[in-house]
Amino acid sequence: MKVLIVGSGGREHAIAASVARSKKVDRIYCAPGNAGIGQIAECVPIGAMEFERIRDFSLEKGVDLVIVGMDDPLVGGLVDVLEEAGIRAFGPRKNAAILEGSKAFSKDLMKKYGIPTAAYEVFDQAQEALDYLRTKAKFPIVLKADGLALGKGVLICNTLEEAQEGVCAIMTEHRFGTAGNRLVIEEFMTGREVSVLTFTDGRTIRVMSSAQDHKRAYDNDKGPNTGGMGTFSPSPFYTPQVDRFCREHIYQATVDAMAAEGRPFQGVIFFGLMLTPDGPKVLEYNARFGDPEAQVVLPRMKNDMVEVCEACIDRTLDQVDLRFEDNAAVCVVLASDGYPVKYDKGYPIRGLEAFEGKDGYYCFHAGTKLAEDGKTILTNGGRVLGVTAKGATLQEARANAYRATEWIHFENKYMRHDIGKAIDEA
Ligand code: AMP
Ligand code: GLY
Repeated sequence: MKVLIVGSGGREHAIAASVARSKKVDRIYCAPGNAGIGQIAECVPIGAMEFERIRDFSLEKGVDLVIVGMDDPLVGGLVDVLEEAGIRAFGPRKNAAILEGSKAFSKDLMKKYGIPTAAYEVFDQAQEALDYLRTKAKFPIVLKADGLALGKGVLICNTLEEAQEGVCAIMTEHRFGTAGNRLVIEEFMTGREVSVLTFTDGRTIRVMSSAQDHKRAYDNDKGPNTGGMGTFSPSPFYTPQVDRFCREHIYQATVDAMAAEGRPFQGVIFFGLMLTPDGPKVLEYNARFGDPEAQVVLPRMKNDMVEVCEACIDRTLDQVDLRFEDNAAVCVVLASDGYPVKYDKGYPIRGLEAFEGKDGYYCFHAGTKLAEDGKTILTNGGRVLGVTAKGATLQEARANAYRATEWIHFENKYMRHDIGKAIDEA
């Protein structure tokens, strides 16, 4: 088979590495990819939002399966464009990707179908949001831009003043662009966060091993929100009891709700959960693998990735038994110092060859590119690399991952030093 992966981050590198292990695959393309993906796939200079070019490329090369990794093309309807041309594509259609594309949609869905989540209100007008904050709100409170905002459209406000500024930033100043045309104001919840990735064919849902992300830029969960600074899998806080509850009240309920709405979801649903004192609740849905969650979950998956994707498309997921290694993995993101605010790029990266031939160690590329000399790999983004290691236990995986971060050198290398610290509290 020929497989095309759409995207360019650490997630897509992890997907490509899984696809490369498939016995069914003899050719992998990636649009646009990055320097690391280029070592296992042929990268083609087509942007993830260039739907017609992706379609034409797939037809020209006879691509058998397209796997869409990123949220923007999914929400924009890339899968629909490909399907209309007869190309098999893994990922939700536009009418289902709205589960991630609109927070107002997902909140209304959860309310309608009784799926546990924080209480909320939706606003189209800044003035109404401000009136609500003044008269009815309890603090802290959470403001969410309705649309896609690179994981940054969520503000936690401790006071009325902060919340008023937040409403202006999102709705009046359009800090997150059109994503902020509508606003969700949500009850503040407390508890541990867990990310659970699942495959679904629109009817059946199969749950992957759990993970936990670290969204803030600095140690001890300080600093601005990022796309994710590191992950571990499985989460020791995701107990069998929590799993049972979520399967019954959240996962299948979401799949059934989407089907009932005439929006059958085929692809990956990422459940961002908070384990609150009142039980697990949904923080957010994503319509794709998480990044860096994919970097700790996929290396532990025993199934043939392509077979699972095809089962989602063919609606035969009930025949798939999803299996994971009985071990752990930790991913530490090496970023450019200053991310996510302001940072320099273009620095040469040294030490990548240290990962060659080392079982259980992975260096997934996020923001990298090949220099003009065709040899040197340069930093090319905020999140540069995802250094992942497995271990028999979480502690061992963490020690291995941090050891491996020392193999890599670039001028403004930055990482958190407390990824997986919560493991010790489990
Ligand atoms: P989201 O993009 O919706 O997952 O939000 C980003 C982050 O904001 C989450 O990972 C949480 O840490 C935090 N967050 C979102 N919603 C809430 C909430 N209702 N209560 C407390 N924290 C929240
Ligand atoms: N790591 C969170 C996300 O991919 O949205």
